[in-house]
Amino acid sequence: MCGIVGYIGDRQAAPVLLDGLSKLEYRGYDSAGIAVVNGNGDFTVEKSSGRLKFLFDKTCGGKKIDGVCGIGHTRWATHGLPNELNAHPHVTADGYVTVVHNGIIENYVELKTKLEKSGYSFYSQTDTEVIVNLIDYYYKKYGLGPVDAISRFMNRVRGSYAIAVMFKNDPEVIYAARKDSPMILGVGEGESFLASDVPAILKYTRNVLYLNNCEIAEIKKSYIKIFDIDKNPVFREHKLIDWDISAAEKDGWEHFMIKEIHEQPKAVKDTLGSFVNGNDIDLSETGIDENIIKTFRNITFVGCGSAYHVGVTLQYVFESLLRIPVRVELASEFRYRNPLVDSQTLIIAISQSGETADTLAAIKEAKKRGAVTFSIVNVVGSSISRESDYVMYTKAGPEIAVATTKAYSAQLICGYLLAIKFSEIRRGLSKSEKEKMLFELGGISEKIESILNNKEQLQRLAAEKSNTIDVFIIGRGIDYSASLEGALKLKEISYVHTEAFAAGELKHGTISLIENGTLVIGILTQKDLFEKTRSNMQETRSRGATLLGITFAGENKLEEEIDSCIYIPKIHELFSASLVVIPLQLLSYYISIQKGNDVDKPRNLAKSVTVE
Ligand code: G6P
Repeated sequence: MCGIVGYIGDRQAAPVLLDGLSKLEYRGYDSAGIAVVNGNGDFTVEKSSGRLKFLFDKTCGGKKIDGVCGIGHTRWATHGLPNELNAHPHVTADGYVTVVHNGIIENYVELKTKLEKSGYSFYSQTDTEVIVNLIDYYYKKYGLGPVDAISRFMNRVRGSYAIAVMFKNDPEVIYAARKDSPMILGVGEGESFLASDVPAILKYTRNVLYLNNCEIAEIKKSYIKIFDIDKNPVFREHKLIDWDISAAEKDGWEHFMIKEIHEQPKAVKDTLGSFVNGNDIDLSETGIDENIIKTFRNITFVGCGSAYHVGVTLQYVFESLLRIPVRVELASEFRYRNPLVDSQTLIIAISQSGETADTLAAIKEAKKRGAVTFSIVNVVGSSISRESDYVMYTKAGPEIAVATTKAYSAQLICGYLLAIKFSEIRRGLSKSEKEKMLFELGGISEKIESILNNKEQLQRLAAEKSNTIDVFIIGRGIDYSASLEGALKLKEISYVHTEAFAAGELKHGTISLIENGTLVIGILTQKDLFEKTRSNMQETRSRGATLLGITFAGENKLEEEIDSCIYIPKIHELFSASLVVIPLQLLSYYISIQKGNDVDKPRNLAKSVTVE
């Protein structure tokens, strides 16, 4: 949600800003803008609503704007319509201060009233205009410079923000500050950058500084200084990003999503490779040790969207291997239910971006209640990873398409490894059992590859089913958890109304929605549940449903009793979600293409949801 970039150096800033913004498109936005200052200290601000392409065309790819220092923004509307007026950057009436902002200022109404009384007027409906005027107010009132004005602003506002600020009197510096919204700083050779996420600057530098909550950065072309909220200098070590640049480019694929679907075998292999050492699971990178693993009595997973679905799958896996109570909670609900967590609880937060506001808030709440916090995160140095006691990084590389695929697969792998390791430490899982499971995990990558190599059936199905209005995906146990993720994929990118149901639950109401031609997808990978789900599928067929099944090859013959069947390679039942999800991702992708949807940036969605 909202993307921020900033550049200062010797290059023309506008093309660098537009390029950076294009790498942040995945975050979701509905307008965009840039502000650039030239050698004479003159500012140019250009904005447009809609796609970044319009801003690109308006500025001839940035060539129309002269200057080597500037800030840019893609806006995902919260306060005010997604039009040009509300687009960022926002500027004070006299042009002294220019700001771009990601986040929400909660007390903006109160601040706006106060500023109006001091003579400020407002042209937009955004909360951001309050920021720009408030900083201007402190800047002029105390005359103690930009860092002072920003620090006073930070002490006065409530809410979340990552901001980049430029001052007319200080045209060779960009200032940045953050609280609960992401911001990284990039250090190049005689140039500096800021951005909401790494892909925006990866082309120029891999050397980054993470700005912590409630810190201010002074960014010049030759150095970056960081201050705490009380204006004291803070030392910050540089970190080297090891992501491959091509991982953030389409590399000849039509969409990021299909590229990322095909990167899953690698994401799985790399994630396994970083924690499996011969026949052992090595969690030392995460920081957690045996003593901690032995102490907790229950586990709660928290996450949003697909990350929540990973938690649902892992709940089955952990309970099966650990035999302790495991819950899974939507992060957005967790802290509003006075959660039953204490020092005996291990909270496992799952998040690709590491910036999802609800998941971050859940971790903070759990910590407050004394729980041990562990996160499974893809983005190194992200807020959730920094907030957690222990972190396990998925090795999926940058994920750009809004609908997650490879991060989901890598998160499952981390979860399986944790469950096996915990079970070994707490329940004495036998060596042979452990090795058998590790062997199965080692085969997932190749099995995903084999599903990806047989896409024709799914492409055909997508062509046949692209006009389908309602889909129900049913399964029991782990198959139910996979159906949740499959349904989300069909909804978010194919815009097909899809519901996931625990197969046995369908008859308690929802079966009345089955009509002639309703598509019911049954997932049948769990031996003990096979017959039951099969019967539930037949119940829907008797009411007119068209049936599609997903099951293991070789064991179960279904094609005679259903309309089509997708066979996936056999795998340990606890890990079946890793394979079941692949045909569902592909089906969603091909239906989305068939319908002409914007696959990588589906309507109304943002990849990284940094507001609650
Ligand atoms: C958004 C995305 C989903 C994602 C969810 C959680 O809603 O569209 O694909 O699963 O956020 O994101 P996270 O970065 O925390 O995994």
